[in-house]
Amino acid sequence: MAEFIPVPAFDLVVFGATGDLSLRKLFPALLHRFLDGQIPAQSRIIGVARGDLDTASFRALVHESRGRFAPDACVDEAKCAAFLERVEYVRLDAGAPAEAWSGLSRTLADGADNVRIFYLSTAPSLFVTIAQRVGEAGLANEHARIVLEKPIGRDLASSRAINDGVGRVFDERHTFRIDHYLGKETVQNLLVLRFANMLIEPVWSRATIDHVQITVAEEVGVEGRGEYYDKSGALRDMVQNHLLQLLCLVALESPNSMDADAIRTEKLKVLSALRRIGPREAPAKTVRGQYCAGLVQGKSAPGYSEEVGKASNTETFVAIKAEIDTWRWAGVPFYLRTGKRMGARRSEIVVQFKPPPVAMFGAEGANANRLVLRLQPDEGVRLWLNVKEPGPGGLHVRPVPLNLSFADAFTLRYPDAYERLLMDVVRGNLSLFMRRDEVDAAWSWTDGLLGAWAEIGGAPHPYAAGGNGPTQSALLIDRDGRAWWDPE
Ligand code: BG6
Repeated sequence: MAEFIPVPAFDLVVFGATGDLSLRKLFPALLHRFLDGQIPAQSRIIGVARGDLDTASFRALVHESRGRFAPDACVDEAKCAAFLERVEYVRLDAGAPAEAWSGLSRTLADGADNVRIFYLSTAPSLFVTIAQRVGEAGLANEHARIVLEKPIGRDLASSRAINDGVGRVFDERHTFRIDHYLGKETVQNLLVLRFANMLIEPVWSRATIDHVQITVAEEVGVEGRGEYYDKSGALRDMVQNHLLQLLCLVALESPNSMDADAIRTEKLKVLSALRRIGPREAPAKTVRGQYCAGLVQGKSAPGYSEEVGKASNTETFVAIKAEIDTWRWAGVPFYLRTGKRMGARRSEIVVQFKPPPVAMFGAEGANANRLVLRLQPDEGVRLWLNVKEPGPGGLHVRPVPLNLSFADAFTLRYPDAYERLLMDVVRGNLSLFMRRDEVDAAWSWTDGLLGAWAEIGGAPHPYAAGGNGPTQSALLIDRDGRAWWDPE
């Protein structure tokens, strides 16, 4: 039976508190944990933004957004009101000089013994300034931590500049770089599946695995984030962080403990062994796409250029054949694919094993085993095995999944990734956060590919909203005699 581990009392200062991420993810996550009884008395959540609000109007905003983003948490109004009592608002332009910070300093003085968390849910261009001001205002006491939301920069140089600037105030032990994919239940389960089951690890290598596919497909387009997204694109927005982190967890060697640095060191080794993709390899190993108008789940959806209001060469889809140069993975491609406005929301890792070496049962029995880890929606694990079809009519072999659906196996509410991650920050557990050298290594590989694309030039391939991406993506894997695993 899962239980909530108590955390110390904390003051969580959210910069960018009126922004989309705060209202959509952070406050609902905190509300859920409050309702679960995990947030101790004396804890406060202090929203900081430039907007002309006070605590009462900010609470009203959080209350209103709760109805939209956490409707399931509205059952007990009295408890929800008690949660809002913990919420305060400080109006502050984070870029303003240190004198302007006196209001925040006064508020924080009341919680001097609390764990103090500065959560930067702002544009990355403000990260260094905020860290610096926090330092100048004397707020970075021995209990203080900083949380950086992605993107941390847009390339290796800008990410280093941010990490250097923030690092002048907060050392690595107190810096929490969020990749919310690491807080997803099935992602954490990857480590458990691999290292708590004797069955899995011995077959987890090039000896038995043919290839791996990692797909993160979204139904949504760029919504209101066109300005950010158009400068970013799918490679920076999704691959540099989420997909590479998933790849690391599939590929890493066994850490010697669950200690944060043990895990992060193994992830770093994977990132360092990722083969770079230069201008010569990029045309055969990568595909860029951009959605045009189409139908998503029966509803018409505009094209990307229409959404951002201009013609653009930004990719909203990318497929990559990645290779890891280690003894375990040499010759095992990792096909990565992510896109916006695809047919359905689906994040999945598919581990495709090799077929049996001898086709004793003819072609029917030569189907390769496949392990499918579904991250969202319908979290679960499916292992496809060959079995004999029951009944008369000769011996017929069929691939059938052993199906572990988490919804059926566990009755607990499925927590959002941010719930776990926020509580880990309070606890000071860095295991699910990225270390600086990991971010550097991920950017270094990504920069190589961005440079290759820039050198080659050309526009992304169009694909109709609501489909599986451009046909070139199917060709990328088809050239190797393989196919994407896209369930009907
Ligand atoms: C974010 C990206 O990091 O992840 C978004 O910036 C994307 O573009 C989102 O939509 C996807 O997260 P999830 O949890 O909905 O899969």
